[in-house]
Amino acid sequence: MENTSKNKKENLIIGVGTDHAGIKLKDAIFNHLKEKGYEVINFGVDNPTPVDYPDIAIAVGEAVISKKITCGILVCGTGIGISIAANKVKGIRAALCISKNAAKLSKTHNNANILVLAGRDNVAEDPIAIVEEWLKFDFSGEERHQRRIGKITSYET
Ligand code: RB5
Repeated sequence: MENTSKNKKENLIIGVGTDHAGIKLKDAIFNHLKEKGYEVINFGVDNPTPVDYPDIAIAVGEAVISKKITCGILVCGTGIGISIAANKVKGIRAALCISKNAAKLSKTHNNANILVLAGRDNVAEDPIAIVEEWLKFDFSGEERHQRRIGKITSYET
């Protein structure tokens, strides 16, 4: 279910965050989204001094849950640590995506509310294109996907 309407863009507030290993990519995403007209909040970090990825993951995850932002985009070196940490926030479904197809399915099947990318690993597909693809799609709402997500939510509670 593709939704590229102006209304959708106007209603979105996207939070971006990274540890020290993903600053370049996080900044590229931030600038790209701003240029495209999205409202974007930068959760940092902006300085290469090493930090702990759970701090950024939890800040962005909690902002999604409290509805300060609509969705989040997180980066760390591999994307793994920050995914693990973000997924500990109740209600977060953070998806580490290395392709446009994974980005699309993480929305339509998994209703991911955070997209995660790798800042240091060279992935075959352009990360900005992965972000664009992720933002194009919404959850399909199909019963089987809702049921599966419901099982995760039940386990969490
Ligand atoms: C930081 O050096 C690195 O461990 C972190 O960015 C990430 O890759 C962890 O999963």
